[in-house]
Amino acid sequence: MSKHWDALAKRHAEVKDRAILDLFEWADRAEVFAASAGDMILDYSKTNIDLETRDLLVALAKDTGVADKRAAMFGGEKINDTEGRAVLHVALRAGDDAVIRVDGVDVMQQIRATRTRIATFVRDVREGLFTGQGGKITDVVNIGIGGSDLGPVMATLALAPYHDGPRVHYVSNVDGAHIHDVLEGLNPETTLVIVASKTFTTIETMTNAETAKRWMQTKVADPAAQFAAVSTSAEKTAAFGIDGARVFGFEDWVGGRYSLWGPIGLGVMLAIGSENFDQFLAGARDMDQRFVNDPFERNMPVMLALVGTWHNQICGYTTRAVLPYDQRLSRLPAYFQQLEMESNGKGVALDGSNLTRPSGPVVWGEPGTNGQHAFYQLIHQGTRVVPCEFFIARNGHEPDLAHQHLLLASNCLAQSEALMRGRSLGEATAIMAKKGFTGAELDRQARHRVFPGNRPSTTLVYPKLTPFVLGQIIALYEHRVFVEGVILGINSYDQWGVELGKELALALQPMLEGTMDAASKDGSTRALLDYLRA
Ligand code: F6P
Repeated sequence: MSKHWDALAKRHAEVKDRAILDLFEWADRAEVFAASAGDMILDYSKTNIDLETRDLLVALAKDTGVADKRAAMFGGEKINDTEGRAVLHVALRAGDDAVIRVDGVDVMQQIRATRTRIATFVRDVREGLFTGQGGKITDVVNIGIGGSDLGPVMATLALAPYHDGPRVHYVSNVDGAHIHDVLEGLNPETTLVIVASKTFTTIETMTNAETAKRWMQTKVADPAAQFAAVSTSAEKTAAFGIDGARVFGFEDWVGGRYSLWGPIGLGVMLAIGSENFDQFLAGARDMDQRFVNDPFERNMPVMLALVGTWHNQICGYTTRAVLPYDQRLSRLPAYFQQLEMESNGKGVALDGSNLTRPSGPVVWGEPGTNGQHAFYQLIHQGTRVVPCEFFIARNGHEPDLAHQHLLLASNCLAQSEALMRGRSLGEATAIMAKKGFTGAELDRQARHRVFPGNRPSTTLVYPKLTPFVLGQIIALYEHRVFVEGVILGINSYDQWGVELGKELALALQPMLEGTMDAASKDGSTRALLDYLRA
């Protein structure tokens, strides 16, 4: 493989100083360096990738075995081999006629059965057939963290125009302030609590669930009757006291950060109804099919991954910014942060050797236009290059406010143009000269107003943020992470890096309580313990 990496590094050295803007002398560039999925377009023409580079990147993807690995994933093989598990979130959104086997068993039968049970429960809650002690459920509190929170929160916010069910709230942090602030003002008699945890052991979630139970007890005779659970462990949900009728299971071959498509999406389903949720699944399925069938050069997830690989691995840009010009995608950056960084933040290759290349990039971001008034300064003039990933809908959901959408869209386009075009010293000098500056002060003032430009970005444009489109976007990024992980030769589906902190937190608890001596701890930790205990 090293021949591909070497060729890409050589190519980067050859082209790194040219202006991306000049590449548009080829009139077809915007069309050629784009991938489409129905009415959605990923424009990656504002990068330094040309045909030769793309060919090299595609060859890298081919030779690292992306196609075989893709077939293995969709075929239910145990590609998560540090946990001995298949990786089958795609099964959660597969069509009714799909057959997907794990260890020879068709998992779709179970998935279909759970889908039907959830749809019935969702209907019952939304129509008032399932009630709390005080009548129809008005509020739902989903208690979960990480993958059992970020996806549902993100999708619930994203699909606000489709909400016609109970209000759905999310509690994740073990900080008591979170659950306190959410429960305050809710009526236990008309609240349904969902405890969402793949393992049903996560300390934050179980602690919050106990707190919610106590809160419910203040007014409700049988609190457990207003609890539902989503987990892979029927045993543990039963031990918590939740009736099996309101327990929705899934299998360990669904990674937490990939679990939004099944029962973990219960909060979203309650908010928008099962039909809209089915559209969300249909969008993801549409992207799955394109990922499986489209040739690499036109395959949206593959090309997004290759752009990412080029920037992170070859150009050495260590972060990337997720910048949705769509306020309802305000939690998309946080969701992608877990998806990308928990998946590809690894330093060891599949064979156990140390990676010789950087692991996946740092992912961060905020919606535009807000970010423009905060951190875009660094993106435009800082010394680091941050590849930016813009998102913008053709239409908003508010026809009466179309003029605001126009302003939003013009800002989005302005940013990617400004990043690429920049402003030269000559241009800045002309502007400042017009303002009356002269001599050395003119030069000094002008230099502060220079934009280096030549900063790459991609823009994803979509018709409107519908459930279908949201499903496409999330699946697009899931597959992008998969491809980047295969190219790096890592397991994108485990997360051992989160375990050490959990173990140490358990050990520190009695030290904070003062029931255990802290002598074994380092000086800093001991001093902090002293401070917090005082
Ligand atoms: O600690 C990390 C993690 O295991 C994530 O991978 C997961 O999404 C989250 O915790 C929550 O886990 P669970 O759904 O089992 O409570």
